[in-house]
Amino acid sequence: MDRYLVFGHPVRHSKSPFIHTLFARQTQQELEYGLAEPAIDEFAHALRTFFDQGGKGCNVTVPFKEQAFALVDRLSPRAKRAGAVNTIKLTDDGVLLGDNTDGAGLVADLKSHGVTLADSRILLLGAGGAARGALAPLLAELPSELLIANRTHTKAQQLAAEFHDLGPVTAQTYEQLAGPFDLVINSTSASLQGELPPLAPALIHTDIAIYDMMYGASDTAFISWAKQHGARQTMDGLGMLVEQAAEAFTVWRGIRPGTKQVLRELKRNLGVI
Ligand code: ATR
Repeated sequence: MDRYLVFGHPVRHSKSPFIHTLFARQTQQELEYGLAEPAIDEFAHALRTFFDQGGKGCNVTVPFKEQAFALVDRLSPRAKRAGAVNTIKLTDDGVLLGDNTDGAGLVADLKSHGVTLADSRILLLGAGGAARGALAPLLAELPSELLIANRTHTKAQQLAAEFHDLGPVTAQTYEQLAGPFDLVINSTSASLQGELPPLAPALIHTDIAIYDMMYGASDTAFISWAKQHGARQTMDGLGMLVEQAAEAFTVWRGIRPGTKQVLRELKRNLGVI
């Protein structure tokens, strides 16, 4: 049977095996999908061993995405832009192809929620790996403006300069931001420490769409905060997780699985519904 897995550390709580097993059942593909948690300095060896032993493809999550970027034989254009790899496929001619499906997953999830990106004014919070992966797919949707705000302003400036050729992207400090925005995407890891990005509450209004790339069994700190200040449409990163997985599955198997039912089952599994 064709073997796939996700590399991460820690990875025990990953939902990828659950999601891909449902995709395989739905599309009647015979495959198995497991977990691997190598020590940080053992990733390269573990990756090589997996493919030497017949593995067909893998996902890569924190903290290995940058290492994977350096280790594959070839990169897709979107992985090159993201500077990170979350999906690897062994091609028929024995080449390890590195791809990145995170940004495509974000855009697919936003669209599935009915969020309009074309001609919209988007605020992206954070300038780390998650923000970098989102920029090219967001700019491809032709927003009128995409502003990046980050605690460390120089990182936002660097990122904006790097993606400037793809569209109207600029950096501003949190203090400089002036609304109205149509969509705010939180890519920061602030909620991991139970913190909030320092965004002025006045920027939140009833018609704004709020997206937090994080997710949990209950509202993230950022989503709770946005709701308190009047946001009616809030979305967390669970849909992005399922959509990036669907994109990876399509890269591997050439068949695109449906995501709605799988997202529902995942929510049930997490106790969200
Ligand atoms: P990831 O790969 O998830 O993007 P990362 O590369 O470590 O993780 O980036 C984390 C992002 O969250 C950064 O933009 C970070 O801001 P800095 O560049 O100033 O470090 C942002 N971040 C983390 N904690 C934050 C907090 N409490 N408030 C605001 N931004 C925060």
